[in-house]
Amino acid sequence: MCGITGYKGKRNASEIVIKGLKKLEYRGYDSWGIAIKTDNHLNVIKRIGKIGDVSSKELKLKKSSFGIAHTRWATTGKVTQENAHPHLSMDNKIAVVHNGIIENYQELKKFLTKQGFKFRSETDTEVIPQFIQYFMDKGNSFNDAVINTIKKLEGRFAIVAINKDYDTMIGARRGSPLVLGVGKDEFFLASDIPAFLEYTKDVIFLDDNEIVFINSKTEIRNFQTNKKVEKKTEKIDWDAKEAEKGSFPHFMLKEILEQKESIARAVNQDLDEIKRIAKLINDAFGVFIVGCGTAGKVCHTATYLFSRIADKHVNFSFSSEFPNYQHFLTDKTLMIAVSQSGETADTLEAIEAAKKKGVKVLSIVNVYGSSMTRISDYNIYVKSGPEKCVASTKVTTGQLAILTMLAYACAGKLEEGTKLIKQTITDINKTINDSYLKKIKSLAEKIRDNESMYIIGRGLNYPIALESAIKLQEVSYIHAEGFAGGELKHGPLALIDNKTPCIALVANDETKADILSNAEEVKSRAGLIIGVAPENNPAFDYWLEVPDSGNCSPIVNIIPVQLLAYYLSTLKGIDPDYPKNLAKCVSVK
Ligand code: M6R
Repeated sequence: MCGITGYKGKRNASEIVIKGLKKLEYRGYDSWGIAIKTDNHLNVIKRIGKIGDVSSKELKLKKSSFGIAHTRWATTGKVTQENAHPHLSMDNKIAVVHNGIIENYQELKKFLTKQGFKFRSETDTEVIPQFIQYFMDKGNSFNDAVINTIKKLEGRFAIVAINKDYDTMIGARRGSPLVLGVGKDEFFLASDIPAFLEYTKDVIFLDDNEIVFINSKTEIRNFQTNKKVEKKTEKIDWDAKEAEKGSFPHFMLKEILEQKESIARAVNQDLDEIKRIAKLINDAFGVFIVGCGTAGKVCHTATYLFSRIADKHVNFSFSSEFPNYQHFLTDKTLMIAVSQSGETADTLEAIEAAKKKGVKVLSIVNVYGSSMTRISDYNIYVKSGPEKCVASTKVTTGQLAILTMLAYACAGKLEEGTKLIKQTITDINKTINDSYLKKIKSLAEKIRDNESMYIIGRGLNYPIALESAIKLQEVSYIHAEGFAGGELKHGPLALIDNKTPCIALVANDETKADILSNAEEVKSRAGLIIGVAPENNPAFDYWLEVPDSGNCSPIVNIIPVQLLAYYLSTLKGIDPDYPKNLAKCVSVK
């Protein structure tokens, strides 16, 4: 959470970093700020709220070749102008932007306070520029002062630092992402590639404990060993337009509709590699699958997929809970980590815990070059392209498709699996059209004022009921809860009244009769039933048709719920791309 960016080169830095911030806003949008170096002076601007439509002209910033910027998702310290980044040293010479958490900041702040340093914010970040000044006051060069400072930091961080008296921009990371963009006589630093994609596709992914000094050239070192590191420049095969909304009102709608193509890209994998990975899963002595939020629900669904398709037991744990299972791990265990961003702190920590026990890790990740892909033994990319809306949609179905394919591969039936997924993609293409969208929008109009909603599913569609609840909560702010159909009678039925719509997720499998009778149970207590199903049924007050897709029912059933959540959000005047209190990438514990 939080997006950072920096630029050094021949163009106008304020324009570049402001544009970059707009591309990184999905990472946090409580407040923003920039620092531009002009004539040995740092111009700093900080504001509360989203950067929105602000232009560098409006900010009346002088032309400069050098600047840094930040968009914040508050962790330590409230949402105030003082707490917005960049943070400055007491002498106002050094400016720093930071993504991550400095766990020992209180101890560092206490030390600096004793040395006479005054603090202007409540943040953990402010100790960084202050410590850099502390070391410079003691005679360190800017470069050495930054190295000595970051050696003191505990926790996860990516930082960019500038000094009004130096021509060097410095970036460093441990545990949070930082990518270097390499242009002709210009360099970019950012939490994520879209921040500079329109200027260069040549990138260097910094790894943990690496620091880059940017002048007219760049030098990368390991800040622990101080050894120079030679890094490969990689060419990114992304179209800058993919990261734009284009003619769509919101990224969320664009990304939901992109699923027609993104699922196909997700399963367009090297099939020999998929077979090799399936063998790893089959040969492992214990398989754990971990993820958070929506990725967690994908993992939960995968336990059903592996069980029914490949007779394989896979253990699911939310990443944050995974350390509790450490006792079961051996060097024969396999971990499957699922993530859109590849930067979620809880999942990174789960991977680190597993690796300490010699566990091999397979990551299923969307963001190319992200931290998870750099520490895992095997990677499968979801290939959905940039997903900007905080609510995950296209990456969810891409991950589900990959895990379905892996389950079939484990059963030695990869061909059958890919055929089913391809058919599902064709059927989704036929289903999602303008009249389908209109139907879902008019349903949203009918239920927009309801305070609560419930979603029920069984088998493969139980975790999808849980995921449906996340989608509705995130973007419509409606209190939504998912239940296993069979659990209703054990408590939740008491919540049903004529003001509670209930979505029943139906698959044409052995759970069908039972979930339909659960829907009837709700209906007979005056609840309104929205059936997401391949066939209509008298139990439904509204029917949202989906293709009959066998083991791909989780993929087809979540799409109409994503659309319903989208329309509820926009009808209620909410911006679904930037829901309150959330950030796309949660890089704190
Ligand atoms: O980037 P990740 O997939 O690791 O993120 C995990 C969750 O934070 C994420 O799925 C979150 O729940 C989404 N906002 C859901 O739409």
